Amino acid sequence: MTQRSPGGPGPDQTPAPTPSAAFAGFAEEGVDTRRAGRLWWDQNAADYVAEHGSFLGADDFCWCPEGLRESEARLLGDVAGRRVLEIGAGAAQCSRWLVAQGARSVATDVSGGMLAQSLVLDAHLGTTTPVVQADARALPFADDSFDVAFTAFGAIPFVADADQVHREAARVLRPGGRWVFSVTHPVRWAFPDDPTTRGLTAIRPYFDRRPYVETDDAGIVTYAEHHRTLGDHVGELVAAGFRLERLLEPTWPPGHDRVWGGWGPVRGAVLPGTAIFVCTL
Ligand SMILES: C[S@@+](CC[C@H](N)C(=O)[O-])C[C@H]1O[C@@H](n2cnc3c(N)ncnc32)[C@H](O)[C@@H]1O
Repeated sequence: MTQRSPGGPGPDQTPAPTPSAAFAGFAEEGVDTRRAGRLWWDQNAADYVAEHGSFLGADDFCWCPEGLRESEARLLGDVAGRRVLEIGAGAAQCSRWLVAQGARSVATDVSGGMLAQSLVLDAHLGTTTPVVQADARALPFADDSFDVAFTAFGAIPFVADADQVHREAARVLRPGGRWVFSVTHPVRWAFPDDPTTRGLTAIRPYFDRRPYVETDDAGIVTYAEHHRTLGDHVGELVAAGFRLERLLEPTWPPGHDRVWGGWGPVRGAVLPGTAIFVCTL
């Protein structure tokens, strides 16, 4: 969850970018962001879980900063006995919850540092959550090997080629399988990543696809987030062979005061913060 969201700074660099970044801002389209994701998440894994772990829950399935839980939303359907793949799983809280529901769930993530946090949670809870380190764009699984695949803010915002994530999800799902993913609502890209009223004035073209990046002293991109319009997301899904069944835009619940990056009750009352795509193959 980002726009320097659940994990980073924002398009207007408010809140502040990673302190060590030499540059933070919008790069030209086509800038090489391939090395960014894994490195940043490895280095920030423990801090990320320390900051957001209590909200996410060690063995709970949270779709977004609005706090929508799978126990309530049931977007994956009945998971008992189903083969479920989590992509960009982080500390695998969602998969841990799914295993407890009887799913045959596997959590994958490109960052060994994030998956190590899953082992920490397992050790603490006495649970066993299967994890595999893998880039979402090259999954180490056979064709047709899952009934359901999903990600809650994993992988897709952080890669230039999200179409390849969708193609891999389509490849490993059986025909009729379900693919569900949450991302920052695309409309947010036009606004400052600021949870106060400052974040309610559009300052950038929604159609500007340049990625937000941070670079180190050598000019290497250490963190990247990529914007896609709603139409871009749908186009990539359809090209990968999916049918879009539902598009959820969770509302901000009354009494929910937690601020996460640019998300919070002030903007939540006015703007959508999350988009959840529910698709079938
Ligand atoms: C915001 S976290 C989402 C995880 C979890 N749902 C959460 O809310 O904490 C983003 C995750 O995506 C992972 N990620 C980034 N790029 C990836 C890629 N190319 N393949 C797989 N995972 C990736 C990161 O390592 C990180 O664990």
